[in-house]
Parts: sequence; C-alpha cells; structure tokens
Amino acid sequence: KAHLTSSVLGREIHYFSEIDSTNNAAKKLAADGCPEGTIVVAEEQLTGRGRLARGWYSPFGKGIWLSVVLRPPFAPMEAAKCTLMAAVGINRAINAVTGAGCGIKWPNDILCKGRKVVGILTEMSAEMDAINYVVIGIGVNVNMEEQDFPEEIAATATSLAMAAGCRIPRMKLLTAILAELENVYSTVKTSGFAPILAEWKSQSITLGQQVAVNGIDRNFTGLAVDIDADGALLIKTPQGIERVLAGDVSIRPS
Ligand code: BTN
Repeated sequence: KAHLTSSVLGREIHYFSEIDSTNNAAKKLAADGCPEGTIVVAEEQLTGRGRLARGWYSPFGKGIWLSVVLRPPFAPMEAAKCTLMAAVGINRAINAVTGAGCGIKWPNDILCKGRKVVGILTEMSAEMDAINYVVIGIGVNVNMEEQDFPEEIAATATSLAMAAGCRIPRMKLLTAILAELENVYSTVKTSGFAPILAEWKSQSITLGQQVAVNGIDRNFTGLAVDIDADGALLIKTPQGIERVLAGDVSIRPS
C-alpha cells in the first residue's frame, strides 16, 4: 500500500494468494457496503470469468487479476462508460510502463500486435435510477511466456513481457493502473465523458476495420466507423448504420 500513488483507488485492499474470482469477492464486499476504491487482487484465480460466459486464464503470479469497486454518480444506463473509461486508463498505464504499443479493441480489450493482453469485465448492481456499485474486473497478462498459455488461447493471447521482450514488474504496473484509473474517473466526473471518448477513439484499433458481429439474434459484417456518446459501436453496412452495444456481441476482424 505504501507504494500506491492513487488516493481513493486502493484505500482498502483485499489480497489473496488464491481465489475463485476477484470480481465475485469484490461484488460481495460492495454489496456489504465497502467504500468506493476498494480493490481485490489475487495471485491466482481458480475460476476467473470473462465476458459472454467465457473463462479467464489466471495462472499464479503471472498476471494482474484485479477488481475495483466504484460507486459512480451515473445513471445505470451509463455504466458502459465505466468500461470504456477503464480501457483508456489501463491502456495509458501499460503503454507508459512497458512501451509495448498496445491499442484498444472495442469495447474493452487491449491488444498488442493483434493479440489480447488485457480483458475487462464490468459488473453492476443498480436499484431504481441509481447505481449501487460497479465492479471493474481487470485481467492483465503480464509475465507469461508463449508456452504458459493453454492451446485454446495461445493463438489469440499474448503477454506484456512477450510484447516488450522483458519481464515487467507487476507492482509498478499495478500502481500505474490504479493511478490512471483514478485520473480517468476524476476526468469523467469533472468534465464529462467527451475527453475520454476522444482518447478512446485515438487509441482504437477497431475503428476503420472491417468487422464481423456475432450476437444472439444478429450476425453481420460491416465497417466500424465510429463510437457514439453512449459507447456503442457504429457499423456501416449495405443496409445502413448498425448500432451495437457491448455485452451482447463479440466482434472480430473480417
Ligand atoms: C474478458 O475479456 O472477457 C474479460 C476478462 C476479465 C478478467 C478479469 S481478471 C480479474 C476479474 N475477475 C474475474 O473473474 N474476471 C476479471
């Protein structure tokens, strides 16, 4: 804790050697009334969770498996902004610490040389018109080597160490991530979402790409042209502009 430069994020730290999922623990703490900025970190997750009911590979000591509790003064409909905001902050931090040259894939993955290094899983609890809490779950592949990844994800995942060509000190990276998350959160609260959206766009590797969308009730391809003020991706198709919200779809280059 003495290392941290953030003042709110990490003011309460729950550290585990091994845990099912840091998001599960953070949601329990949040439901029990823990302060905003509480974080849960673990060396290893036994059942780390990803978006769209996928798992998240979380081997001991090789990554940052982190969940952050926020209580943002946004309407529940605006919770998607937390994910975009987190992606911007984390992308700043990892590029500053590693120089790896990462970019953001809509809505919330950070990729390096076309392979995933960071995943973000935002979970929310809201009542009526107010958010009770948001848990931002962040998985960063830090010091894995090629052979550490299971076969199913080896082709699509990488680590910062592999991208940068050297081991990355995890504490330094964690400190930078918390500091940048605090910065982007304070920007959103004081200046609104526009500056973060602008940075998101400038760091995006999705805009300008031909993408395939796989949703529950729709599958189509088109050109990713923009992201709107709610964080939805706008895709140009022969039928017109399709608007895609995070949560219900996966996209891949086509
Ligand atoms: C995704 O890309 O599908 C999101 C992955 C999110 C993984 C992180 S690791 C810390 C936190 N705890 C979890 O169980 N998941 C998130």
